Amino acid sequence: MANIILLGPPGAGKGTQAKRLVEARGMVQLSTGDMLREAKTSGSEMGRKVADVMARGELVTDEIVIGLIREKLTGAAGGGFIFDGFPRTLAQADALGQLMAEVGQSLDAVIEMRVDDAALVARITGRFTCGGCGEVYHDDTKPTKVAGICDQCGSDNMQRRADDNADALRTRLMEYYKKTSPLIGYYYAKGDLSSVDGLAAMDAVASSIALVLDA
Ligand code: AP5
Ligand code: MG
Repeated sequence: MANIILLGPPGAGKGTQAKRLVEARGMVQLSTGDMLREAKTSGSEMGRKVADVMARGELVTDEIVIGLIREKLTGAAGGGFIFDGFPRTLAQADALGQLMAEVGQSLDAVIEMRVDDAALVARITGRFTCGGCGEVYHDDTKPTKVAGICDQCGSDNMQRRADDNADALRTRLMEYYKKTSPLIGYYYAKGDLSSVDGLAAMDAVASSIALVLDA
């Protein structure tokens, strides 16, 4: 069992690899982005408050996302936790360390997914997601077998994210470099950091992550 962070810019493949780890190893994916989008869909007050911030590509407050993670970290997860898109600031990283200590857990690895910015634009603008089961697709690299129908659940409710456009992506990248990329040094200094080539094919990235987990 391992608790890990998937760290990388928008479009690095964090969600894609997290879902594979859930299936392959019974790990539990904790994606603050997914939680915030669910809050928006459910129409809660918090969801309404963060919707515009997210659509612009800015980070929501540390207080909100730390609260979301705190609610989920009530005990150990069978196969371990995958933190996907959290932490994203140094304050969030410190908070996660404290929360894990409070529940008697440790962080086993931080996996940096390296990609170059030009590839991210193509990944983000081609992405669509099944509204039925959450499976993530791509127009070129992972199309559905039958156009418009989810391979997993058969739903025809395909959705594109409000922040998957060129303007919001620029802001998301800027936020990543200003506020999140310092975490690479932070976890390197703690001795927790491993890096994988996120530009490789999905199966190859999965193998690199498996090597880190099994080390
Ligand atoms: P979040 O949902 O976390 O978005 P993100 O970090 O921008 O990352 P993405 O989900 O866009 O990318 P991904 O790395 O998961 O890539 P994916 O696997 O989908 O956050 C959204 C917003 O919520 C933030 O902007 C912020 O407002 C807020 N937020 C969330 N967490 C927060 C926090 N902690 N603090 C503050 N605010 C927070 O892959 C992308 C595409 O590429 C897919 O189409 C996929 O099929 C394709 N693909 C994946 N891997 C490969 C591969 N190896 N080869 C070819 N194609 C690939
Ligand atoms: Mg994601």
